[in-house]
Amino acid sequence: MKMTVKDIDVKGKRVIVRCDFNVPIDESGRITDETRVIGSLPTIRYLVEQGAKTILMSHMGRPDGAPDMKYTLQPVADSLSAHLGQKAVFVSSPTVVDEAVRAAAERLEGGQVMLLENLRFRKEETKNGEEFSKELASLAEIYVNDAFGTAHRAHASTAGIAAFLPAVSGFLIEKEVKFLGEAVENPARPLLAILGGAKVKDKIPVIENLIGKVDALIIGGGMAYTFFKAMGYEIGLSILDEDSVGLANSLADAARAKGVEFILPVDVKAALAFDNDAEAGYCDADKIPADRMGLDIGPKSIELFTSVIKKAKTIIWNGPMGVFEKPNFAAGTLAVAQAMAASDAVTIIGGGDSAAAVEQFGLGEKMSHISTGGGASLEFLEGRTLPGIAVIKDK
Ligand code: 3PG
Repeated sequence: MKMTVKDIDVKGKRVIVRCDFNVPIDESGRITDETRVIGSLPTIRYLVEQGAKTILMSHMGRPDGAPDMKYTLQPVADSLSAHLGQKAVFVSSPTVVDEAVRAAAERLEGGQVMLLENLRFRKEETKNGEEFSKELASLAEIYVNDAFGTAHRAHASTAGIAAFLPAVSGFLIEKEVKFLGEAVENPARPLLAILGGAKVKDKIPVIENLIGKVDALIIGGGMAYTFFKAMGYEIGLSILDEDSVGLANSLADAARAKGVEFILPVDVKAALAFDNDAEAGYCDADKIPADRMGLDIGPKSIELFTSVIKKAKTIIWNGPMGVFEKPNFAAGTLAVAQAMAASDAVTIIGGGDSAAAVEQFGLGEKMSHISTGGGASLEFLEGRTLPGIAVIKDK
């Protein structure tokens, strides 16, 4: 068990908190999905209530180690001020920490909140540069990591800083580790994993790790076509991860050898082109016409997947079933989301595209947990130690 903000006295202390405010921003500078800001609020509110002097920090985008106002955290400061009902002091510095920032941190009173500028304006951040870790640490007495989405990165603000301050986790990291950890290590069974997305290669370590833990594994989305190819099916123009064909076979064999129910789509919706309005129709998975590409699962697969979802007591989902951004190929992803929403199982969405899909369908509230980490939740499901979590003190 890791220590949290509740296990350390923060009253009146200067506390520096790493959040993941890497949120999507439109051309007018508006945040289009506030999930990560909202996810950080319980920890911030707790610190405010405790009378801590809270200094928040995050990266946004990949500004390449130099100041670039396209990636300023000003919109996040505005959003935080609105959610907290008090001003989040924002001192935008091209070097993140400077005299003005130090002075603002000094001036903070108990219960006040300030936000630093985008950490990736400094090249040392992603290089885990010790001097930058020290600079950040010098602003505070306690370090809180609550950036689950960035916990798979060993950066100055997620890992290095813990060498200079006592490190505890925030409530978001605590919650993510609880849901994802229990789902994999101590789940209500049957445990079902549903994996989708385009490339087998990206999901190999996850599949390998989960094979030893799950009772059933559904493979959908673009990945399925590589498995079909491995089985000798005609896949037409469907996406193929050529290098992974051999591995697809051995993964399927390994799953079956462990007694895992291994489920692939039995039919697909195949189109003449990668276009929402392209001519498309349903066909069995082993009969995809040579001039077509599978862009979604078909109705028989939806029925099959739904029946497996109904039996499960814990479900982890990562990766869409089809090209859900195109309405004509969203049915499979929607059906999986709806079946999970209707289930009384523990339902966990592993971040990234599937989280976006569930929110787009308005079903977010119906899930037990939607991870705020894309890459981080994948690495967690691979069974890897995340550097940003490893540095947090054990209880
Ligand atoms: C994410 O969105 O996955 C995290 O914020 C990490 O961002 P990165 O991939 O640019 O390190």
